[in-house]
Amino acid sequence: MNPATVSPSPALLKVTDLGVSYGRVRAVQSVSLEVGEGEFVAMIGSNGAGKSSTMKAISGVLEPVAGRVEFNGTDVTGQPSHRLVRQGLAMVPEGRQVFAEQSVEDNLRLGAFVFSRTPKAIDEAVERGFALFPRLAERRAQAAGSLSGGEQQMLAIARGLASRPRLLVIDELSLGLAPRVLDMLFPVLQQLNREGLAILLVEQLATQALAVSHRAYVMETGRVTLQGSARALAQDPAVRQAYLGRH
Ligand SMILES: Nc1ncnc2c1ncn2[C@@H]1O[C@H](COP(=O)(O)OP(=O)(O)O)[C@@H](O)[C@H]1O
Ligand SMILES: [Mg+2]
Repeated sequence: MNPATVSPSPALLKVTDLGVSYGRVRAVQSVSLEVGEGEFVAMIGSNGAGKSSTMKAISGVLEPVAGRVEFNGTDVTGQPSHRLVRQGLAMVPEGRQVFAEQSVEDNLRLGAFVFSRTPKAIDEAVERGFALFPRLAERRAQAAGSLSGGEQQMLAIARGLASRPRLLVIDELSLGLAPRVLDMLFPVLQQLNREGLAILLVEQLATQALAVSHRAYVMETGRVTLQGSARALAQDPAVRQAYLGRH
């Protein structure tokens, strides 16, 4: 296939030969991937494959030891996450990491503050979050740490969206969440994507990830081993045996 036809539009995110190390341990080895404008891309793979390390290097949480990250046509390799957020690349980290002592509303305000410091814009961002997840509106004054896991994931997503990203990176949406929560969260992500948000989703639940995404990458021991349209990967015998068989 002509590589130009793989991605539907010019790449919003282009990662080339990325490497991540922890001391002398190489966790990510020459990973290349792309997310097009408005595209929904999934990454699947077993525990310890290097998915989180890749996402952290993309979103500026840690510095890669090799390779290049381009966002919106600009080389942003090694830039810290607070600068990337301002350029439109937001991350929902593995384990949510909401500010547990702060109220739900203040978590959203902190997310919005990166995008704008005018009170009106911040109020609007907070209300957008509450409109998207009405359950959070009912709990706006509660400490974020007192929310259920599903509500904390909603808050982490809403906090990421409050910075008005063009690309939302989500590391392990489903981790520890009940199926009924996921039945609500996956459609929300699809709706956000239809409205133009590009999404890069790391997900253990391969079946669900391939059902909602356009394209996907499979990572194994620090490398991308398979990639293609989500539909093709869902039918790939190797993928089915390794990642879909147990569901
Ligand atoms: N902070 C760290 N220090 C040392 N090794 C780490 C650290 N974080 C991850 N690793 C190692 O890097 C590899 C990839 O981990 P990770 O990126 O978290 O994988 P995944 O998200 O796919 O489960 C694993 O072998 C893991 O043990
Ligand atoms: Mg991980």
